[in-house]
Amino acid sequence: MVAAAQFGSDFEDVVRARLDVIEDRLFAAAEASTPMVTEAARWIMSAGGKRFRPMLVVLASQFGPDHESEDVVKAAVVVELTHVASLYHDDVMDDADRRRGALSAHQKWQNSVAIMVGDFLFARASAIVSELGTEAVRIQAETFARLVQGQIAETVGPADDADPLQHHLDVVADKTASLISTSALLGAKVAGADTATQQAMAEFGEQIGTVFQLSDDIIDITSDDTGKAPGTDLRERVPTLPTLLVRQAGRPEDAELLALMDGDLSDDAVLARAIGLLRQHPAIDQARAEVVRRAERTRTMLADLPAIPARDALAELCTTVVSRTS
Ligand code: IPE
Ligand code: IPE
Ligand code: MG
Ligand code: MG
Repeated sequence: MVAAAQFGSDFEDVVRARLDVIEDRLFAAAEASTPMVTEAARWIMSAGGKRFRPMLVVLASQFGPDHESEDVVKAAVVVELTHVASLYHDDVMDDADRRRGALSAHQKWQNSVAIMVGDFLFARASAIVSELGTEAVRIQAETFARLVQGQIAETVGPADDADPLQHHLDVVADKTASLISTSALLGAKVAGADTATQQAMAEFGEQIGTVFQLSDDIIDITSDDTGKAPGTDLRERVPTLPTLLVRQAGRPEDAELLALMDGDLSDDAVLARAIGLLRQHPAIDQARAEVVRRAERTRTMLADLPAIPARDALAELCTTVVSRTS
């Protein structure tokens, strides 16, 4: 999802050069005192990933006078390390076997190793963010606190008297939009953008982050191309927009699907049947329509920003984030 590829070559070259440096720094930051920990810490990084958050840092930095600053690279490394750390933990929580097309870390090693490696990467992110000043440290700490609270809220589920859809949207905002918002905010901030631009980037990131996760939840059902096992959310009974809409519709013809959704999906054939039924359900199109509507609204948030190539790239992200299949 390298949106910059569609824009003028100078801009594209600048963004690519930045992302290349960030890539090297990520691997350097994952070096540990033993080869085993280094291998485990680089495992998920080496497997791929879209680097969506570093891309946002770089694009947001273009709105500030100091966009060539080394601090932009540091901010991008901090958010991607935080993201990758959360993936190590998330795969344990979701009992997910595959990540970025590779065996998940807890499958390759064991749960405790995956959890500690996540902590290790988070510690590396903390050390690097300290070089960006106390305000960046505060932002990073508050972001991670939001992210983990979102993950806990998802695990615990809504209270009996809570609206499940609102609970889900709150979870999505906290577990995913928080770090994506911070990516855009930190990019603008370390590049010296004014406060209004920083605020605009944080708000844009919050909205595109929500769209990003809602879209991910649809892809979990509709795509075989994610590098993750399809239907992981279904199997783990993690509510998502499509399944919440199925429940809301309560159609008599959905009896089999609802029974499957509430039953044991550990058998691959049973899970495949549930995925098949869900793929044909109108809830998928409804969920897609909602995601497109939100993405379009997010795009309009860019209107007051200066018309530089980075703004066009951010606008383009509002399209690709919805149309992506991985
Ligand atoms: C996966 O994030 C977790 C979510 C928040 C949906 P990404 O979709 O950015 O994963 P990678 O980094 O490209 O693997
Ligand atoms: C993503 O959770 C949020 C974090 C990792 C913090 P998901 O469980 O929805 O993400 P995937 O589908 O495993 O990437
Ligand atoms: Mg997961
Ligand atoms: Mg999860």
